[in-house]
Amino acid sequence: MQRLCGLADIPDGDAIGVAYRNRCPHLGIELNFMPDVFLDTEQRYIQCANHSALFQIEDGLCVFGPCQGESLVTVAVQLIDEDVWLSAEPDKKD
Ligand code: FES
Repeated sequence: MQRLCGLADIPDGDAIGVAYRNRCPHLGIELNFMPDVFLDTEQRYIQCANHSALFQIEDGLCVFGPCQGESLVTVAVQLIDEDVWLSAEPDKKD
């Protein structure tokens, strides 16, 4: 497992539920151009910086863009004491 961050680093710390592998299903490349910037301007969707695909935060489903209908790959997260840990392996296949 890999430490992702501290619970205090998450603005809404009680909202830990899901994490996604940083790979767009369209081309299999990273979603973001700038470090730690993943959401659209309205903070409603995860947005791929490459071709602007939009993914629902709650389940990773692409609702707009070239990979519409596909989903981000989830990874397991675990809260241990005050730290959030990321599993090394995705929960499901790409
Ligand atoms: S690489 Fe993400 S939408 Fe094209």
